Amino acid sequence: MDNKAIIARTVDFVQAKFLHEGSGHDWAHIQRVWHTSQALASQTPAVDPFVTELGALLHDVADWKFHAGDEEAGPRAAREWLNSLGVDEAITQRVEVIIREISFKGLGVPTPMSTPEGEVVQDADRLDAIGAIGIARAFAYGGHKGRPLHDPAIAPVAHDSFESYKQNAAPTLNHFYEKLLHLRERLHTPAARVVAKERHQFMEAFLTQFLREWEGEDVN
Ligand code: ADP
Ligand code: NI
Repeated sequence: MDNKAIIARTVDFVQAKFLHEGSGHDWAHIQRVWHTSQALASQTPAVDPFVTELGALLHDVADWKFHAGDEEAGPRAAREWLNSLGVDEAITQRVEVIIREISFKGLGVPTPMSTPEGEVVQDADRLDAIGAIGIARAFAYGGHKGRPLHDPAIAPVAHDSFESYKQNAAPTLNHFYEKLLHLRERLHTPAARVVAKERHQFMEAFLTQFLREWEGEDVN
């Protein structure tokens, strides 16, 4: 099978898997990460476009958050899929590494990417977690988990272990302070930093307005 056919088959596979997903991990998210990854790859040196596309398409195929905390579920599912298509072992290994390394694990937990393709896919994934779409996804996720929008009595926590981050069940607004506002500083590629600037500012403006309305400061 040539590379084009492998991508086409993978698009169909992932699309079918995510069609009815309502937690913010839907096909539209995968599609945005795929397209953003391609754009970032074209502006970043030494990035293999085929590995990048496969990594982007498969990056959420079995997320630990939805698989009882099993961090190997994603890399394993990607490997099984690529093996079923007869993809070269060397390529499969590079895709597996991207998926293993991509997740955010708490503010105090470094998550370096060991390959340039991984840096691009992680940047694209994180760009989709900020800005207007990022805001919508955070509240969709919080709603899916039955969490309140905000509770001023519950302070944000800078999780310094993956265990503590995993167990977190705080109101959704805390997620902005525990993760989303910090993603801009953690991007790898200059191309992603350019996109992040406006999205970050939009999130800050949203939070300012949210808290004003919460306190009723704009009423009267
Ligand atoms: P990423 O794709 O950046 O690794 P995740 O897979 O951790 O992000 O999360 C997917 C989406 O769900 C993101 O938009 C993220 O902000 C959101 N999300 C994850 N955890 C929470 C949470 N505790 N509260 C609100 N939103 C969350
Ligand atoms: Ni994702």
